[in-house]
Amino acid sequence: MNTYLHVVGARPNFMKLAPVYKELASKPNISQLVVHTGQHYDNLMSQVFFDQFQLPLPDINLNVGSGTHAKQTADIMIGLEKIFENHHPSCIIVYRDVNSTLAAALVASKLYIPVAHVEAGLRSGDRKMPEEINRILTDQVSELLFTPSEDANNNLIREGIDSSKLFYVGNVMIDTLKKMLPQSKKLIKPLLGSFGLNYVTTLPLYGLVTIHRPSNTDNIDKLISIILVLNKISNKIPLIFPVHPRTRYKLDKLNIKFSKNLIFTEPTAYLDFIALQSHSLFVITDSGGVQEESTYLGVPCLTIRSNTERPVTTILGTNKLIGDDLSLLYNAISNILMNYKTPHIIPPLWDGQAAQRIAKILFDKYK
Ligand code: UD1
Repeated sequence: MNTYLHVVGARPNFMKLAPVYKELASKPNISQLVVHTGQHYDNLMSQVFFDQFQLPLPDINLNVGSGTHAKQTADIMIGLEKIFENHHPSCIIVYRDVNSTLAAALVASKLYIPVAHVEAGLRSGDRKMPEEINRILTDQVSELLFTPSEDANNNLIREGIDSSKLFYVGNVMIDTLKKMLPQSKKLIKPLLGSFGLNYVTTLPLYGLVTIHRPSNTDNIDKLISIILVLNKISNKIPLIFPVHPRTRYKLDKLNIKFSKNLIFTEPTAYLDFIALQSHSLFVITDSGGVQEESTYLGVPCLTIRSNTERPVTTILGTNKLIGDDLSLLYNAISNILMNYKTPHIIPPLWDGQAAQRIAKILFDKYK
């Protein structure tokens, strides 16, 4: 019997694991193991996603927790080496671009275990992002590269990856979004009520904010400028801001006044977040996944970054890069407030079937 071993560790991995795990579970004579590295460990960053996706608890949790990049990556590698040697999986499946992804890919490739990378080929061109290093190196040692968009295929070919390893399957994140969206709709009224906001069916009455990239949180001057512009925007429209632990830590040290219309909350569970996102007038973010979800949902997205590894969201979708000039953010929001429709096209193969394609390829390859 073939064993497929999934490695996940951080919040954005779990919504990609869920559809792939479920599609593989429908195949005969295979077994699956899920290893959680423990990179994200707070309930709200981890457990709540397994509950909402009705995923079984991970078979193994390495509980590595936080640390420097070197320590976190090394601890994960040491833990995974023993597990891979004990279980002899046919293949390791890794997701996206977090430290857990690279650690698993390095360990598996040195043990001659094939690596399948879900969301391969994305490139921001910015090697100062730890995620960019993780993407490039993971792709180099992977045997099966599942790509979400054509630009990803082009990047991989340019980097010398053999085209026989590439599979353009679409976006698994959208599989989960499409599936969970109807359930999420029921939550919006009580959710907005909990923030003291009214639910109005005709017009979205708030914006949603997520900020957690080191490039925005670790430079205090940049973080202060972001909060000041958010304060200003929130004088026009309330902003709901679920705060990532990294950002919370930095915000707690700032000695500035926050507008009362800038509504901070804990990181939200998945269903709550997509309920808030799908009803919002716009999102302001530096997350990768939110750029994709907002494109699918048709919600205008203002990204506080100078580059994106998801160019399809700016070409076909609703995403606009703001870069460092935050006056552009204020102007963009003012325009949205005057005319809130942003034209968009859902990218090809973002159709809810990506995991089905991945599972078929994996099953046919190792049966
Ligand atoms: C990681 C990913 C990033 C992804 C993000 C989503 C890498 C390099 N980065 O960044 O690509 O977009 O997850 O969340 O892998 N912390 C907690 N509780 C938790 C998790 C983290 O308090 O459950 C705190 C820790 O103090 C840690 C900090 O948040 O120092 C950052 O966590 P870390 O896993 O290093 O990276 P993220 O910034 O979350």
